[in-house]
Amino acid sequence: MYKKGMLIFAVIMTLSGCGKPKDSVEGKIEKLLSQMTLQEKIGQMNQLTGLGLAEDMQNQIKSGKVGSILNETDAKTINELQRIAVKESRLGIPLIFGRDVIHGFKTIFPIPLGQAASWNPQIAENGARIAALEASSVGIRWTFAPMVDISRDPRWGRIAESCGEDPYLTSIMGAAMVKGFQGNKLSDATSIASCAKHFAGYGASESGKDYNTTWIPELQLRDVYLPSFKAAADAGAASFMCSFNDINGVPSSGNELLNQQILRKEWKFDGVLVSDWASIEQMITHGVCSNLKDAAQKALKAGVDMDMMGFAYTGNLNELVKSGAVSEKQIDASVRNILRLKFRLGLFDNPYVKESETSPFYTVDALAKAKQAAVEGSVLLKNTNNVLPISSDIKSVAVIGPLSDSPTDQLGTWIFDGDASHSVTPLAAIRSTFGNQVKIIAEKGLTYSRDNNSEGISKAVSAARQADVVLYFAGEEAILSGEAHCRADISMPGKQTELLAALKQTGKPVVTIIMAGRPLTIEKEVEMSDAVLYAFHGGTMAGPALADLLFGKAVPSGKLPVTFPRMVGQIPIYYAHKMTGRPAKDAVMMNDIPVGAGQTSLGNTSYHLDAGDKPLFPFGFGLSYSTFQYSPVKISSNEISKNESFTVECNITNTGKYEAAEVAQFYIRDLVATLARPVRELKGFQKISLKPGESKAVKFEISSNELGFWHQDNTYSAEPGEFQAWISKDSQSGDPKTFSLK
Ligand code: BGC
Repeated sequence: MYKKGMLIFAVIMTLSGCGKPKDSVEGKIEKLLSQMTLQEKIGQMNQLTGLGLAEDMQNQIKSGKVGSILNETDAKTINELQRIAVKESRLGIPLIFGRDVIHGFKTIFPIPLGQAASWNPQIAENGARIAALEASSVGIRWTFAPMVDISRDPRWGRIAESCGEDPYLTSIMGAAMVKGFQGNKLSDATSIASCAKHFAGYGASESGKDYNTTWIPELQLRDVYLPSFKAAADAGAASFMCSFNDINGVPSSGNELLNQQILRKEWKFDGVLVSDWASIEQMITHGVCSNLKDAAQKALKAGVDMDMMGFAYTGNLNELVKSGAVSEKQIDASVRNILRLKFRLGLFDNPYVKESETSPFYTVDALAKAKQAAVEGSVLLKNTNNVLPISSDIKSVAVIGPLSDSPTDQLGTWIFDGDASHSVTPLAAIRSTFGNQVKIIAEKGLTYSRDNNSEGISKAVSAARQADVVLYFAGEEAILSGEAHCRADISMPGKQTELLAALKQTGKPVVTIIMAGRPLTIEKEVEMSDAVLYAFHGGTMAGPALADLLFGKAVPSGKLPVTFPRMVGQIPIYYAHKMTGRPAKDAVMMNDIPVGAGQTSLGNTSYHLDAGDKPLFPFGFGLSYSTFQYSPVKISSNEISKNESFTVECNITNTGKYEAAEVAQFYIRDLVATLARPVRELKGFQKISLKPGESKAVKFEISSNELGFWHQDNTYSAEPGEFQAWISKDSQSGDPKTFSLK
């Protein structure tokens, strides 16, 4: 029997970690930690970029000065470096090898924005799983993905890496990626640790310029920018990464509110928080630290466990502990997190990668899944007179445009390891799959998207003249999006619009397929085209996916994960905006103002004279070759009590001629609250497949708690009152049903 004193002793031991059963992970961590010198602890907190087998690197590993290596991708080298860590360093702590495996390692899936356009979490999970299988085969056990930054600015190059503008959609897709990367068990040799990044608010950078300042009131941070990170943590994300930006003046790598208060205290996150590349050091450039020592101290205090290529920790923590400026306890807390990740990955038991004889890359399964992702991630924006799918009466097509046959560009940004020689381009796929059915006349017209040389246009026009339909592949080269690849003007680059105008002049039906890393301002191009298919950068299998969609072997089912502005001046533009006190009504456009109108009132409402108040295409928008009818929405009760769940449902009927998938979107609006609330908020979605004439019920269950929001006193709750609910095909259509929360 326990005596009271013994019980208290046991409690103290357990709380301090000393009472952990020795064979539990926590017990093993404590045991190892107790044997580590301060220098070895600091070594674990140091992440270096791969230098292959450079002597300097080997020596540092041997003396326990490195905890992790990024960007080493050769299995032999990885094993050799690991051998040095395990066999030649004093404590034999294995290294963890990391890499940016963002939308594929070798087999490249669509950019994350394109995957989000599928509104199918299985697509994202598949992509991450294939990436994990491929990357782990060379010894990479940690990826710096998913990026779950809410991105409402298409000028920002990194919007390509995001799941778009919405907290709910990003939460679901991000969590699916975490699941795919990490598999069923992190210790499985094919699982790789995921990293939710960039914590936080990076997507709010002013003017969409990378690394720029962000101003985010805490309410908005919690309502909009943090839920996707919380969802990633709840899905078991093994690590988080800081962001480069300052948030309300405090850079993320020194941000105690984010990293200590929210991540550790509120969310109880026990994974690794890694800095971004030299982001600790960059606190000096931000102007909040006077030197590297100061930066190391601030980052440690903020709970940043690992310094990615910043050399702040290795050079300064020792002295900071000695001088009493930081305590060894703070260092221990970080080292525990790092060791925990290594134990969870099973690296202490299986530190090496099996060097396989057979290539695990570009398997039939991987390519099929990548193709399906590109099919589901393409969004049909316009289809006048059902020009698509190309009918069997069509005898010839002209394949035009700089993106029609550009193996590298279709892969998009962040493809360190993807090999463009495996890309199947639209031209190649149309030739191989439909070459027997139609005559193909190929003429690029422009050699690359920014090409300003119009010499090729006349050849493209004569190709168009010889064909029944023109397939025009335009957009952006991969280099125009991604990190530090931001644009102030997001219109179609080069002479692409001029080429489209010339193609249109031929009188032939023109189908424009846009491959890009972001929403482009394409109002003119949409007008000039008979059909528009927005494909983002679709990856290795973009070509076969697009060929199937164009020729009707597959039916488009993607929906926009982000609002498309008409013009750049509308940014920020997103569906979940507030009502304002003077919402737009009967907007008088600039060209309609009578000459000499003087200072006449135009209604005094909220809109731009030259753009109106509507986007070009709203969030959630996407057409199909079929059509769908939604029945009126039913709610399980018109009066919901607090802490109660309720259901919202409707029937969807395929009223068209094609078997097709539809994404039913469930939105709510809080009509009166103590704070102005968005005009709509996505709370659920379902992608269902329907045969022609078939109807299915879609039902969403939601708890009253999910109707809530953050209040000024930093509490979250749902307020009683009237709400509206929609189940609709996009964020702007549908009839709402009103209900109340008691
Ligand atoms: C990016 C991160 C990336 C890291 C490592 C940084 O520049 O912001 O997203 O994971 O580099 O490559």
